[in-house]
Amino acid sequence: MSLFTWLSIGVFAYYAIRSIYRLYFHPLAKIPGPKLAALTSGYEFYFNVIKGGMYIWEIERLHKIYGPIIRVNPREVHINDPEYYDEIYTSRARRREKDPIQVAQFGLDGSSFSSITPEEHRQRRVHLDKFFSKQAIANIEHLIQDSLDKIIENLKDAYQTHRVVNLDSGFAGLTADVIYQYTFGFNPGNLDHEGFNQNVRDGANALLQSSHVLYFFPILNTIMGWLPLGVLRRVNESAYVLAIQKSDLYSRGAAALERNRDRVEDKTASNRKGAILDALSGPNIPEHLRTPERLMNEGHSLSIAGTETTARSLAVGSYYLLTIEHVRTKLREELKSLMPTPETRVTWAELEKLPYMCGVVNETLRLSTGISSRIPRIAPTETLVYKNYVIPPGTPLSHMHYFILMDPNIFPNPHVFDPERWIRAAAKGERLDRYLVNFTRGPRICLGRHLAYAELFVVLATLIRRFDMELYETTKANIDFVRDFATPYPEKGNLSVRTVVTGVIRD
Ligand code: HEM
Repeated sequence: MSLFTWLSIGVFAYYAIRSIYRLYFHPLAKIPGPKLAALTSGYEFYFNVIKGGMYIWEIERLHKIYGPIIRVNPREVHINDPEYYDEIYTSRARRREKDPIQVAQFGLDGSSFSSITPEEHRQRRVHLDKFFSKQAIANIEHLIQDSLDKIIENLKDAYQTHRVVNLDSGFAGLTADVIYQYTFGFNPGNLDHEGFNQNVRDGANALLQSSHVLYFFPILNTIMGWLPLGVLRRVNESAYVLAIQKSDLYSRGAAALERNRDRVEDKTASNRKGAILDALSGPNIPEHLRTPERLMNEGHSLSIAGTETTARSLAVGSYYLLTIEHVRTKLREELKSLMPTPETRVTWAELEKLPYMCGVVNETLRLSTGISSRIPRIAPTETLVYKNYVIPPGTPLSHMHYFILMDPNIFPNPHVFDPERWIRAAAKGERLDRYLVNFTRGPRICLGRHLAYAELFVVLATLIRRFDMELYETTKANIDFVRDFATPYPEKGNLSVRTVVTGVIRD
């Protein structure tokens, strides 16, 4: 027999034995689910890569057939049971790790987000936490207000000139300018263009829309890093935009290290522009964390997470507020108690005291989902048990947020934007907020959640109190969650909300 024949027999035998093992002898063999998903990750590849971010809906269908626990690929389990959420995303007392395969797709090595073990994570995150406490965010609310002022001027001008406004770009410009100023100390000026910067999200979108391909082929991240920028531009324009962004952050990281080499630590610096990069490159940070690559990736993680998720939530919230008149009217009435004139400036701390406003923000978060992909946790030493099923240590296990946020048993008529549901629940003593899981829970809870809340409260309240707007060529299809590319995307293109300003409110 020829070498080729022997090789073919060898490959065939390998796959045959592997298939038998995965189906009958693997520690997850008893977990329900389709045989094909247990056999090969090609099942997930088909739905997420070929069909483009559709595995979430297949998982939803599989749960209806197989029940609340399923094996979604040969090595991973998904549970759809809100009461089990805290077992997965549990407190520090029970060791949880991130899944290295899932994390590699984002190419953010060395960042807090990409840390695998709790020790590694703690070491990186501890230097960031103080910048994102509630108090620290209250100290930098003026950055939000400065950007919001630019949006207000833009909307006033659009009213005069009857110009259509891309609100989604305005929101992405605001969230980007805020996080860039806070982290790197410079304002990229995304809100200074007449129609805002339409390209502000290009880099993040390139990363998010490639996320499934990169999950299967993380080597592409490395290859793209090797390619000269000119070549990359010809091969893939979006990847080029991303590479330019990262190279800019690299230079900023290198400059910060140089600048801060001999600096004495300043403990009161957390409300300064650029405070974060300076702190991360300061002398009290362990030496191995002070490299330009790490600063680039930590900075990139902050800028992507700090821009995309909140901007999308703002766009979704505005869509509903501009669509449902009685909600808008009720919100405006409530806001008048705090903002007697439309120009009155308000803070997150003040707005948080308004029950209807809180309901609006909660519904905005609930209906915008945030992170739509699976974000598995691994219990490396603990055997978990779900009903009659044993989940062995080392298994990636997740619960997609969308299924909780849209669970009709928790949120009746889940697709309806209904701020009152939060008020009704509070009156009955129900803790509905337990199920508002957008930011996850446990030690890996979203670092920027307080910043996200401050932006959502202040921006939505101010715009609704100051302007009358109507949607322009925007339907629910523009914001509906159809494709999962780590965050929800509509069927075609990107989420977008366009408006015309029909009035500037005077009283
Ligand atoms: C509505 C807005 C937001 C939502 C829904 C959201 C959601 C999340 C979720 C679910 C995670 C956990 C991801 C995982 O475990 O893989 C996370 C982590 C993270 N978020 Fe957010 N986020 C939002 C806004 C922000 C903002 C404004 C920032 C600004 C800095 C931010 C920074 C981060 C970072 C750095 C992490 C990684 C934390 C770590 O592992 O230590 N997020 N976020």
